Amino acid sequence: MKILVTGAAGFIGSNFVFYMLDKHEDYKITVLDSLTYAGNMETLKPVITDNRFRFVRGDVAKRDTVFSIFKEEEFDIVINFAAESHVDRSIEDPGVFLRTNILGTQVLMDACREFGVKRYHQVGTDEVYGDLPLDRPDLFFTEDMSITASSPYSASKASADLLVMAYHRTYGLPVTISRCSNNYGPYQFPEKLIPLIIARALEDKELPVYGTGENVRDWLYVEDHCRAIDMIIHEGKEGEVYNIGGHNEKTNLEVVKVILKHLNKPESLITFVGDRKGHDLRYAIDPEKIHKELGWLPTTKFDDGIKLTIDWYLENKKWWENIISGEYQQYYDHMYGGR
Ligand code: NAD
Ligand code: TYD
Repeated sequence: MKILVTGAAGFIGSNFVFYMLDKHEDYKITVLDSLTYAGNMETLKPVITDNRFRFVRGDVAKRDTVFSIFKEEEFDIVINFAAESHVDRSIEDPGVFLRTNILGTQVLMDACREFGVKRYHQVGTDEVYGDLPLDRPDLFFTEDMSITASSPYSASKASADLLVMAYHRTYGLPVTISRCSNNYGPYQFPEKLIPLIIARALEDKELPVYGTGENVRDWLYVEDHCRAIDMIIHEGKEGEVYNIGGHNEKTNLEVVKVILKHLNKPESLITFVGDRKGHDLRYAIDPEKIHKELGWLPTTKFDDGIKLTIDWYLENKKWWENIISGEYQQYYDHMYGGR
């Protein structure tokens, strides 16, 4: 089986490649990644010498690059993780989100049509359902809910999902879409809540919590997400959307406090800063469909997953310390200075 995984120098894609090479001995994986600020070759070091693995640096929105790789490799399955993924950055500069997340998806699907790929899988997000109110804990995101969007990021991901469904209906492209809740685990870029808090707490720096800290996210350990995608590409039905999440809702403040407790750092580091524009209140997935149809259930509880994650950041300081030097500091000052 030959698989193309795009965006796998980033957080979830890299974890997915490790998972797949470990699980399927006879699979060959090509990674296509343009190595934006979020992509890091260091991350792929554990597999770089594996002869089942090939890395190509390239942009998913560039038709010539994409078509020439498809011609060389004759992929059976394509899984698209490549994206601009950070909501705050999308609020600052939406353009690149539209290009990569929408046009990149189009180019990849055009190549899948041209070369007769048997399955195109779009890695989507629960953010395309908008948000849920904080005072209705009985409500959850289901696959049949209408798509809406609060941020340029979620609008770009929603647009991509619509395009994927259109390619299925119009051209009969064999597609699946997964929509997952917030992931956490090793190799997450320290601009996202959990790694940002770990890295800053370790340096005894102020921990920026947006607004009141009462916004709720539904956290899933990254390996559970990878296993779900593996199931969907093999057993999921063409043309279907699968939500992925494990009923693990926490307020942002709860998450920050858990991290501080594990690190034995004081809560006085918490600093409330101005809220994110258009900040979604609550995300919560109903994972009933993937559970019933494919038998998927999350296996890592939050208490265990957060410990694994913190331990990983403690043991791999070099990985994130390299990242948070230089350019990242400018990013932090720009996004948080005077907030
Ligand atoms: P990430 O930002 O860590 O990684 C994105 C990767 O894509 C990077 O390696 C980057 O270099 C690459 N990339 C960006 N633009 C590219 C382009 N034009 N061509 C080729 N490669 C490009 O993101 P992530 O958190 O790993 O998310 C991966 C996917 O999962 C995204 O599609 C995201 O929308 C989705 N998702 C993420 C979460 C989450 O909690 N992180 C939850 C649900 C869904
Ligand atoms: P984030 O990790 O950016 O994921 P998403 O916005 O895709 O859910 O943020 C998770 C939550 O944490 C979100 O409600 C925003 C909040 N947040 C903070 O309070 N402070 C921060 O510094 C960051 C990055 C996020």
